[in-house]
Amino acid sequence: MELQSRIRSVSHYVPERRVTNEDLSKLMETSDSWITERTGIKERRFVDTTCSGTSELGEHAARIALERAGWKAQDLDLIVVATLSPDFYFPGVGVMLQQKLGCRTVPALDIRAQCSGLVYGLSVVDGYVKSRQAKKILLVCAEVQSPVLDLTTRGRDMAVLFGDGAGALTIEAVEGGEQGVIDSVLGSDGSGAEVLCMKLPGTATPGFISADDVQQSRVHPSMDGKLVFKNAVTRLLETAGSLMQRNKITAEEIDLIIPHQANLRINEMVRAQLGLPPEKVFNNIHKYGNTTAATIPICMSEAVAEGRLKEGALVMTLAFGAGFTWGGNLIRW
Ligand code: UT7
Repeated sequence: MELQSRIRSVSHYVPERRVTNEDLSKLMETSDSWITERTGIKERRFVDTTCSGTSELGEHAARIALERAGWKAQDLDLIVVATLSPDFYFPGVGVMLQQKLGCRTVPALDIRAQCSGLVYGLSVVDGYVKSRQAKKILLVCAEVQSPVLDLTTRGRDMAVLFGDGAGALTIEAVEGGEQGVIDSVLGSDGSGAEVLCMKLPGTATPGFISADDVQQSRVHPSMDGKLVFKNAVTRLLETAGSLMQRNKITAEEIDLIIPHQANLRINEMVRAQLGLPPEKVFNNIHKYGNTTAATIPICMSEAVAEGRLKEGALVMTLAFGAGFTWGGNLIRW
């Protein structure tokens, strides 16, 4: 009998420090109205200087997810982490969580799919489950992005968009039943690699990084926002179409779409094209901004808490981000 990847629990953790649009407008030439109108963001969370890195946020979210599942860290037999902001250049956050949580010496791997981290992660986990290589899995999506943002007018196009946060899922291999990951569709187009990226520090740069790079502020992420926006809408709709076609369902049959939170206007366009009412698409970008890999699990966790995501619901995730990478999962919750 085929095994299903059933989500046992979901959780999230965000740092306490709230940074409003007003706060940012004291650091750079921007305004609450510009940020709200263009993105839907009102505030985001930033770590403070005591934060020891992305694994710290991931550990908080993971501990809540384990408790909600009624599992101990020792029960896990695979750790998968999605992040673009690891504690160290290497090794990855997966091994940090293995240590911090007190897991057995189980496999721990990091996925680098940026904003598509959760959808790639669920697909990877489903592969391990279906090939009977893991039964109890922790999937953590965590980001600490605030320290690499240029919080001046020069960096305002990126700085107002991103925030810090983490989400975690426990997933179990279960024989039969309806609940679990039904399907995943993933894609990539590396012609977009330099459209949204952070090049430094990196091996493509002779010397890796120089004092001049730091002084000249070349150590921040950059983006051609309009190009990313257009590609995002196209690929998200294409992914939703593939998932519906492959699984012979209509948009009306989906109970809740949980899209990546990069821009409320992107999600509104996708919703309108699919002909769905607002209550069928979950958004919380106004509270957290874009937390990259963590957006979808944070949404899942809040949707469950708010009673908008109940057992048996048909859920579709959709994500697009740097790479370009994109994808979606169809899940019976
Ligand atoms: O998660 C990964 C995927 N990321 C995305 O999907 C992001 C996709 N892109 C976007 O969401 C939008 O393109 C942005 C929100 C990033 C930008 O919105 P836009 O409508 O494309 O604005 P723009 O970049 O064309 O900038 C318009 C104007 C420019 O001024 P001029 O040239 O018209 O005088 C910018 O300099 O707004 C200016 N601007 C700002 N003004 C105030 C750029 N950033 C800011 C800012 N505050 N923070």
